[in-house]
Amino acid sequence: MLSVPFVTHAQTLDVMHWWTSASERSAANALAQAFNSHGLQWQDAAVEGGGGGAAVKVLKSRVLSGSPPAAAQIIGTMLTDWADMGLVLPLTRVAAQEAWKQQIFPEVLHLVTHKHQPIAVPLGIHRINSVLYQRTIFDKLEMPPPRDWAALEGVARRLRNAGITPIAWSDENWQVATVFEAVLLSYAGPELYERLVRARHPEAWLDRRVESALNRLRWLRDLNGPMQRQESNWIDNVKAFHAGRFGILMNGDWVRGELLALTGSSDSSSYCAPMPGTEGMHLYSIDTLSMLKGSMSKQSEQEKAAALLTSVTLQRSYNRVKGSVPVLKDIDPKLLDSCAHESWSTFANPRAHRVPSLAHRMAASEATKEAAAGVLQRFVLNRGVSAQQTQQQLAAVMRTLLKENSRK
Ligand code: GAL
Repeated sequence: MLSVPFVTHAQTLDVMHWWTSASERSAANALAQAFNSHGLQWQDAAVEGGGGGAAVKVLKSRVLSGSPPAAAQIIGTMLTDWADMGLVLPLTRVAAQEAWKQQIFPEVLHLVTHKHQPIAVPLGIHRINSVLYQRTIFDKLEMPPPRDWAALEGVARRLRNAGITPIAWSDENWQVATVFEAVLLSYAGPELYERLVRARHPEAWLDRRVESALNRLRWLRDLNGPMQRQESNWIDNVKAFHAGRFGILMNGDWVRGELLALTGSSDSSSYCAPMPGTEGMHLYSIDTLSMLKGSMSKQSEQEKAAALLTSVTLQRSYNRVKGSVPVLKDIDPKLLDSCAHESWSTFANPRAHRVPSLAHRMAASEATKEAAAGVLQRFVLNRGVSAQQTQQQLAAVMRTLLKENSRK
């Protein structure tokens, strides 16, 4: 633990993030409590909106107006962009003293390291290719969670025949993109997926396997029958799923955290399985908190806060409520519930394929993610747009990114 000067009153750090649902709130509270018990005051600066689209805009405007928060949820490729602009406090001292190299998964450390310096504290690993099946409904119909697309088709038919709306769907662009990337991993496989989202080969988006993934995405959207544009909030969808109004819930595993907030026990109301065809693969989104440089130096408090966040106890309590898994490589997985156990063990397995999320900024910039999510949203909403046209548009988005990257 970093040695810090004795403080007589709590030092305030304002923390910007987008965790406003019940489970996200309790996860943030777990961090805030750790701050409080170490003489730091977490001043909450949350901005509502799943996936963080709104929070990122507010963060940018605060930085531009010269009043950045002391800490912010900055994730994935955004980290490098912000660090390049000199806005992020390097955490080299903290990382050395807290032995991050020995404690944290190398892939996670790589993600938060830029120009040999750690620039964010990793909090937890979410799995995007995770699907939940409503336990009461599945038990009643005596159906096991499907493991492949043929089985999922059968399940959807049986749900419809039983008068149950198959899937908790939302047309919000980030939710469409979140479902799509997991479907894409299923059809493309990890090697092609990686090439696609890293944007090094824009023409790869024209591959037949991408077309199949797009067709499957449209199939999923059509499962509930004809539907007007429906941008339901992910939190409302979790509540409706919990109440038994839908059989299937596809989203990152933060939805498990939210179910836990509703039920008090994460495993009780759903079965959890990887997206069909993605067994043994981990499509990850890693939550990270950066310390920002402001006009007033709070460096020692920021370092103290950063040092707290990777402790085993806090990692366990925070990730349990959040629905994610610890970033630490030496925990006892038996202490995790079955779904978290599978996520953590897959991530920890050197032979498993770990691939980054596009929809949650792990592989490409905020602008690219927004553009790709917009293209996918138009595809599901507009029958007139074909899968091939969508592939062309996605290739164009990635070409722009490639140009951007080559200018850097
Ligand atoms: C993700 C974030 C998660 C979760 C989700 C829904 O981008 O990594 O922690 O909050 O959005 O808001």
